[in-house]
Amino acid sequence: MNRLVVVSNRVPLPSSGQQAGGLAVALDGLMEKRGGLWFGWSGSISDGPTAALARVESAGAVDYATVDLTQEEHDRYYNNFSNGVLWPLLHTMPELMRFDRRDARVYQDVNSRLAASLQPLLRPSDLIWVHDYHLLLLPAALRARGVKNPIGFFLHIPFASPDVLGAAPEVAGLVRDLLAADLIGFQTDNDMANFAAAAQCLAGAVRVSSSALMVSGRRVRLGVFPVEIEAHAFARMAAEMERAEGCERLRRSLQGQRLILGIDRLDPTKGLIQRLAGYRRLLEKHEDLRRRVTMLQIAPVSRKDVGSYQKLRGTLDHDAGELNADLGEADWVPLRMISRATVRPAVAGYMRLARVGLVTPLRDGMNLVAKEYVAAQNPQDPGVLVLSRFAGAARQMDAALLVNPHDADAMADALDTALRMDLAERQARWRALWAAIEHRSPVIWGRSFVATLLRATDPEARARRT
Ligand code: F6P
Repeated sequence: MNRLVVVSNRVPLPSSGQQAGGLAVALDGLMEKRGGLWFGWSGSISDGPTAALARVESAGAVDYATVDLTQEEHDRYYNNFSNGVLWPLLHTMPELMRFDRRDARVYQDVNSRLAASLQPLLRPSDLIWVHDYHLLLLPAALRARGVKNPIGFFLHIPFASPDVLGAAPEVAGLVRDLLAADLIGFQTDNDMANFAAAAQCLAGAVRVSSSALMVSGRRVRLGVFPVEIEAHAFARMAAEMERAEGCERLRRSLQGQRLILGIDRLDPTKGLIQRLAGYRRLLEKHEDLRRRVTMLQIAPVSRKDVGSYQKLRGTLDHDAGELNADLGEADWVPLRMISRATVRPAVAGYMRLARVGLVTPLRDGMNLVAKEYVAAQNPQDPGVLVLSRFAGAARQMDAALLVNPHDADAMADALDTALRMDLAERQARWRALWAAIEHRSPVIWGRSFVATLLRATDPEARARRT
């Protein structure tokens, strides 16, 4: 079996003890089962010049090879360009983008430096799988160093349409360099169609089928691989955690009120301001629900050095305070907000307790919280998922109450419907949602990507196609 080399900006180093993000959660299981090399940023900033060679540590069958970033690289490559330009742009929020050519240059340099550190670790039969928007230039940077191995790339976030992309100078170069990969995977068919359109109009690619492009005589395979969760394991964790002390305390504190739960990183794409507006509208329209519901929003601070995130924190704190001050009573607080991270098992228990899971991003690649909320439910008495139609997950989960997160009235109506929904309808919707996730898993997802990469780069299969 070929060794799998995963490359991602963040690497879940066993020694770091940090909580894993969505990408790491998706890949952990596959790497544990299959073994291989995981390469990327160490999570540390080096004071002096960075070492050319990666540091390697091992755990089980996985070797983790990492390099540090300098402070300037962290500022310009990670904060400014990846999160200040590419993140809003690819989420179709170009108005939040802050473009500066110096950041673009450092982004390019870091991609090249990572390619240079990875190359000596590669073996001829390795399969390379690059992840996410931090590393769009890595496939071309590896090819420029003579790396011939199969290269797959998966984008965990959405891909915007070419006219939105045009807002960022130099974007054509990003699309062109990404096309050095053999397989490029997306969360939804919409993201794939946007990329195919961009590749044609910005990089001169020719579409030869619904899932293949030709670029400079090379065939590049495209594919849709929606990220999944380990639904059964999450369900077991939620059932167990429901009986844990922390969850019991939350239940007692609710005193019979119904819980509406939101779990998101504090991020402009998550629609948190709009969500509070929807909840506020619910309480204004339906006075009978006051004192009978409580909303808990867990929104751990993230990317705190990026301007738009700092601004959001201020606005959200303001709106949350105003909502409680305007609508709260001496003995009832409508909204509880937590900006610290909460560990996954505790979140699973809270999800099981919540009558409504409120997942309303303005745009999202997939959104695994939506899937986790469904998995966490008690099948006998399940809660209701209210889901933004702009989350990738909505394409697989149309038995949820789908809403437009920009429309506060629609959100209030969906919340009202969810809170009053009878048991039979809750169960029927939950069964349909569970059916959409129960037989899938991150390991199956990863294997299907790797199998497609192998097929796309198999010389015999290639010869048959030409
Ligand atoms: O794909 C988006 C993503 O990289 C997720 O995997 C992860 O949960 C999140 O963003 C965390 O971002 P950061 O690495 O900037 O903290």
